[in-house]
Amino acid sequence: MRIVHKVSELHTELAEWRSRRETVALVPTMGNLHGGHLSLVERARQLGECVAVSVFVNPLQFGPNEDFQRYPRTLEADAKLLREAGADLLFAPAVSDVYPAGYPPATTVRVGGALTEILDGHFRPGHFEGVATVVNILFNLVRPDVAVFGEKDWQQLQVVRRMVADLGMPLRIAGAQTLRDADGLALSSRNQYLNPRERALAPRLYAALAAIGEGLRAGRRDFEALCAEQWAALESAGFRPQYLEVRAPDLGVPQADAAAFAILAAAHLGTTRLIDNLQIRVDGPA
Ligand code: PAF
Repeated sequence: MRIVHKVSELHTELAEWRSRRETVALVPTMGNLHGGHLSLVERARQLGECVAVSVFVNPLQFGPNEDFQRYPRTLEADAKLLREAGADLLFAPAVSDVYPAGYPPATTVRVGGALTEILDGHFRPGHFEGVATVVNILFNLVRPDVAVFGEKDWQQLQVVRRMVADLGMPLRIAGAQTLRDADGLALSSRNQYLNPRERALAPRLYAALAAIGEGLRAGRRDFEALCAEQWAALESAGFRPQYLEVRAPDLGVPQADAAAFAILAAAHLGTTRLIDNLQIRVDGPA
């Protein structure tokens, strides 16, 4: 696996792949890789002949009071894991490589409408603009045939899909299933902020989503009441929920006669903000 930091080095490597007409799969990450990321690499290996992984903690998608400074940076360990996972290229640029004309950039990409105003968009103003902008830049730099994103960030996946559709970007976006610890907690780099007591409580977030899913499967369609019950359960366990909602899989308003639903949550536990979602079908197994 090659490790490159500069865009010129990236282009040299990509030119070699392209001269062999090999398809390129990109996995954009912010590093501090865990099993969830490695499953994205595995998916990328199924979808492309060459797998490039970017590791870049993008300042543009963090709010002023968020964890940009303390976000774990573990490039050496990341490189080892990626090598073992069979990635071909690790692109780990600096802020000045991604934003060469100066930071913050004068040009950003904003996916408009409710999609970026609800849920995380409401609680993290500017976040999805930061994500769409950096993803757009990474697509321009790597020009992948396919890019793989985790379904754990369900709203991010919808935002990226919408951007690609709106702008006619010539690549395919693939989602990869959320990986969970045995107790249900979705794998996330932020889990390491949890102290042992919080780590023991954390799976209750997924349990709340699962309980709502069971209610939907049992035929309940009182979405607000279903969520309010689990909101109260989370609060009494010590969470400070920000949202807990049933939506359509595309994050539109859920319809009572729909065959599929997305249940999404964000909650603080101590100083850690956890997000999770559950996609369910009510006409068969999820
Ligand atoms: O999901 C992430 O890790 C980031 O939001 C992404 C897609 C790498 C953009 O910085």
